[in-house]
Amino acid sequence: MICSAAPAKVILFGEHFVVKGKPAIVTAVNLYAKTCIMELESGKHLLISKQLRQETDLDKEHVPEQLAQFKRIYEIIYEKYGVIRGFKAIIDSDIPVSSGMGSSAATAVSFTHSLLRFLGVEFKLEDVNNIAYEAEKLVHGKPSGIDNTVSTFGGIIYYKRGYMEKLNVKWPQNLSLVVVDSGIKRNTGKVVMDVLERYERHEEIMKHIYVAAEQLVNKAKNLILSSRFYDLGELISINQSLLESIGVSIFETDRIIYAMIESGGLGAKISGAGRGGIVYGLFMENSLNNAIHRLKNIGYKPIIVKPVEKGVIEF
Ligand code: PMV
Repeated sequence: MICSAAPAKVILFGEHFVVKGKPAIVTAVNLYAKTCIMELESGKHLLISKQLRQETDLDKEHVPEQLAQFKRIYEIIYEKYGVIRGFKAIIDSDIPVSSGMGSSAATAVSFTHSLLRFLGVEFKLEDVNNIAYEAEKLVHGKPSGIDNTVSTFGGIIYYKRGYMEKLNVKWPQNLSLVVVDSGIKRNTGKVVMDVLERYERHEEIMKHIYVAAEQLVNKAKNLILSSRFYDLGELISINQSLLESIGVSIFETDRIIYAMIESGGLGAKISGAGRGGIVYGLFMENSLNNAIHRLKNIGYKPIIVKPVEKGVIEF
């Protein structure tokens, strides 16, 4: 049996702006999507998603919509590398779905990586990334490519369309990333389209917001490179205000953000497409318990995630 695991992500700065060519900063975190593949003598190509509770035969013309990205990956690999002997692929994931943690990209990356290993062909991580990006296009329409890139390569990444730079710094021991899922699911592709349409309607104003986002991300990058993580808080809050102005902030996520700030967070913002999904906050060790307590009290399940240096791995 061949198994691969690919990490989730938290976009620290710059989501949405990255869709129009501005930079963003993203980190891989320690929640994983895993795929295990075993040979099937019947010659069939079966796929089972435990998290979505769905299964399909990838050779069928129509597969359930939520599994279409895996059929796309299977077809690309089939075209590029030829006949694939029969297999059963089982996909499982700890990453909440449709919440902004890159669940679809991580499952696509783990499936691609394990299938290429199962075939025994030579490949580079770049190939995994490119194939997963094609699958992301089915899910999101106009993805920037940030999700598949961080899940493939891991670490903290400064990303622009067509450009990525790993920021080689150690995350401080006493600094925690707390993630809260608002529980409100949304469709990333739809939110991205709404933001782009708002941009078109008010371009003369929006272009300044996009430039501000770019300056903010570049400033954050410099702080990270000089290990000044503790100074990121205000930039996180400014980034949140920019997200508000492009129309992706809602009451429920604001409530979590204010609870995080009031309980001692250095900064907190939406991460991912917004209109629900997750919020992340940055906390020093000494305010962590207070924050966790407060967030639980208002009905949420905060999780502490850790940035991880590795992207997709064999396991
Ligand atoms: O919500 P997610 O995890 O799908 O993240 C989307 C990030 C966006 O910047 C909004 C879209 C993109 O393709 O970069």
